[in-house]
Amino acid sequence: MTRYFTEDTSVEAVNARMGEDIDPRLKTVMASLVTHLHAFAKDVDLRQEEWDFAIDFLTKTGQICSQERQEFILLSDVLGFSMLVDAINNRRPSQATENTVFGPFHVDNAPIREMGDTISLDGKGERCRYEGRVMDLHGAPIEGACVDVWSDNADSFYDVQQPDIQPKWNNRGRFFTGKDGRYLFYGIKPVSYPIPDDGPVGKMLSALGRHPYRPAHMHYLVTAPGFQKIVTHTFVGDDKYIADDAVFGVKETLIAPFEYVNDGETIWRSPFDFVMVPAAEPVS
Ligand code: BEZ
Ligand code: FE
Repeated sequence: MTRYFTEDTSVEAVNARMGEDIDPRLKTVMASLVTHLHAFAKDVDLRQEEWDFAIDFLTKTGQICSQERQEFILLSDVLGFSMLVDAINNRRPSQATENTVFGPFHVDNAPIREMGDTISLDGKGERCRYEGRVMDLHGAPIEGACVDVWSDNADSFYDVQQPDIQPKWNNRGRFFTGKDGRYLFYGIKPVSYPIPDDGPVGKMLSALGRHPYRPAHMHYLVTAPGFQKIVTHTFVGDDKYIADDAVFGVKETLIAPFEYVNDGETIWRSPFDFVMVPAAEPVS
């Protein structure tokens, strides 16, 4: 039994302190966390001033958090950790629509709109027709699916970032599918934008020689009774940042066509189908 803490026995010394009858999952997670955290410090021979800097960084990350700003999620996003946790928790059959990072800009209870309505309320940007089907794994249409969408405006900001400038609910809406499982709405072709980079995470990115940009995307939260929810985006494939999204959210299957159809009013058409997995369906 390890009695005293040394560099060599550090992991055992800490993990041996856990009680016998604690939650077994908590025990597994904490034992692994301590193992990997100590291995990290040993691997890099962590200097005292580096750890002091890290504590200061984490303190500042907490201090900038508010109702409107979640810097810890941003940190998790730029470290690829949000996408990793999302991948672990959303393993799906290959024909199903893939998930990606949720992001901080979703707002619950966006207006329910009629099929064919526009979500763009500020008159800016290039009008785009978004359409497709919501289906199950066998291609059967799903009736009553909620397609909740949101995007930035042509100036690269979400409405919630500019409450005094943009109309409320600009570039947001919810659409419910009918019997044919189809959805159709108008928005704008989204544009790339920087994630909030005026805090500790932005400083970290710059110290690492990384930019804060996300490639242009349309967000979707697709839900239907009896099916696993899909949290995803569709991406504009020729975007400058498609290969180096600041938060690693791009997946090849989520790059959607943006077809140039310019009819004088609508400039783009972006078709995309969503394939949902029944609740609790195992991965094939
Ligand atoms: C977004 O796409 O809205 C987003 C995702 C992660 C971090 C910041 C923004
Ligand atoms: Fe976004």
